[in-house]
Amino acid sequence: MPTASRKRKKDTGRKNGARKRGGAPLAAIVLAAGKGTRMRSSRAKVLHELLGQPLVSYPVELARTMGADPVVAVLGHQHEAVEAVLLARFGAGAVKVVEQTEQRGTGHAVRLAMPALARFDGSDGMVMVLYGDVPLLRRETLEELVGTAQRYGCLAIVTATPPDPTGYGRILRDQRGHVIGVVEQKDASPEEQAITEINAGIYCGPAGFFREAVLGLGTRNAQGEYYLTDVIARAAASIGVSAIEADFVDVAGINDRHQLAEAELTLRGRINRAWQAHVTYRDPGSTVVEPGVDIGVDVELGCNVALRGRTRIGHGARIGDGVILTDTEVGASAVIRPYTVATEAVIGAGCAVGPFAHLRPGTRLAADVHVGNFVETKKTEIGRGSKANHLSYLGDAIIGEKVNVGAGTITCNYNGYEKFPTVIEDGAFIGSDTQLVAPVRVGRRAVVAAGTTVTRDVPAAALSLSRTPQIDKPGYAQKVAKRYSNKKGSH
Ligand code: UD1
Ligand code: CA
Repeated sequence: MPTASRKRKKDTGRKNGARKRGGAPLAAIVLAAGKGTRMRSSRAKVLHELLGQPLVSYPVELARTMGADPVVAVLGHQHEAVEAVLLARFGAGAVKVVEQTEQRGTGHAVRLAMPALARFDGSDGMVMVLYGDVPLLRRETLEELVGTAQRYGCLAIVTATPPDPTGYGRILRDQRGHVIGVVEQKDASPEEQAITEINAGIYCGPAGFFREAVLGLGTRNAQGEYYLTDVIARAAASIGVSAIEADFVDVAGINDRHQLAEAELTLRGRINRAWQAHVTYRDPGSTVVEPGVDIGVDVELGCNVALRGRTRIGHGARIGDGVILTDTEVGASAVIRPYTVATEAVIGAGCAVGPFAHLRPGTRLAADVHVGNFVETKKTEIGRGSKANHLSYLGDAIIGEKVNVGAGTITCNYNGYEKFPTVIEDGAFIGSDTQLVAPVRVGRRAVVAAGTTVTRDVPAAALSLSRTPQIDKPGYAQKVAKRYSNKKGSH
C-alpha cells in the first residue's frame, strides 16, 4: 500500500524471489483449513472480505512480498472456493494448495504441508507459518521474525499481551526469561492461565527443524489435537527459541463479524495515515482507500470518498465528497466533483467530472474533457477538450476532440438484442435533446439541431435537423380558461 518509495523497494525485491533475504531461501505455510463457525456464514471465513480483499489474501500477499517461495496454503472448509480465489488473485502456480480434510490441529496441518516443501530445502531453508485469518500482521514484524530465525538458526515466534488472554496458548518462560514452551488454554493450570503473554501462532524456523518436529507430534492433550505449539518446547531444548513481541491488534485473528469490522477500521486507519504523507484528507474517518490503490502527491480527498480496487489518482487531482471510484484511473489535476461514481474508467489529466456523473466500465476520457451532472457513460471514448455537461447517456460511442454534446443527448445503442456504435467526429456540435439512433456517424464539424432524431449518418460540416413543424394557435389559453370558467361549480 502506502508510499511510492516503499512500493519500489518491494518490486525490486521480488525479482530475486526466494533468495532476496540475505541468502537463505524462505517458504511460507498459511493455515486456513478451519471452518470459522463463529462467522455464522455459508461462506468460508477466509473468503470474507477486509477492505475489498478476501482475508486469506493478506498473509499470502505478505508472504509473497517477503519473497517466500513456495507459499503453501492448507485448506479444508470450502477448499475449492478458496483455491479458486487464490488462483484468480495470484495466478497459477503462485500458491500451492494442500487439502486437510479433517481439522486435526495446527500441527497436523503443518505436517500435511511439508511434502509440498520437499523440493524447497537446502540446509539453510527457512519456513514461516502464518494464519489465513490474521490479516493485520505487519511486514516489519515478519521481517524481524524471519531475520531473527535466520541470524540465529533458531525458532522465532510472535507473542503479544492482549487485554484478555482467555483462549490463547500461554507463553512459558524460565526464570531467566527464556521461552521454554507454550501451553494451550484447555491444558493450562490456574497458574499458567494467569500468564498474560500469549502465542500469536506465527513462527519462523529452519525447514529441517519443522520437518522433524511435526513428525514427532502426538495428540495426548485436552483436545486430542496435534498441537503445533508442542514444537516450541522441542526448539527450546535444541535450536533455541526467540520471541518477537507484537501489538495484539496486529496479530489478532478474525473469528466473527464484529472482529472483521474492527479489523477493517484498523486497516483503514493505517492506510489513511500512511497516505497522509502527501495526500490531504478532509475526513480520514469516513474515507475508504483499499490496499491496491495508488495516490499521487497533492491529491485532495473529500468526505465519504471510497477508492477501491486498483484505482490510481494522479498528482494534484481533487476528489469531491461522496465520490466512489473502483478500478479507475484519474489523471493529474483532474477534478472529480461530489457523488460521482466511476468503475473501470480512465479519466484524463485536467478533466472535470460530476457532480453526480456515472462513468461505467470502458469509459475513457482524454485530457481536459468535461462530463457534467447526470451524465452516464459506458464503453465510450471522449476526445480531448470535448464536453457533455448535462443529462446524457453515451454508450458504445467514440467521440472526437472538441465536440459539444448538448444537454439531454442520448445514444440509442440497443435494439433489445444487440448493441450498436455511435461515432461523433472532431468539432461536431450536438444540440440539446438529440437522439442518435445507432449505428450512426456524425461527421467532422457537423451541427445537429436541438431536438433532432439522427437515424442516418450526418456528412461533415452539414446541418442535420429533424423536427415536426411548429404550430401556433393564437389565443388558445384564454379560450380554454373561458370554457372552464363557464362550468364553475359543476364538477
Ligand atoms: C492456536 C495455537 C495457540 C495460539 C492461537 C493463536 C495451537 C495448538 N495453538 O490456537 O497457542 O494462541 O492459535 O490464534 O496451535 N487450522 C488449520 N487446521 C487445523 C487447525 C487449525 O488449518 O487442523 C488453522 C485455522 O484455520 C486457523 C489457525 O490454524 O487459521 C489457528 O487455528 P485455531 O483453531 O484458531 O487456533 P488454536 O489451535 O485454537
Ligand atoms: Ca482450535
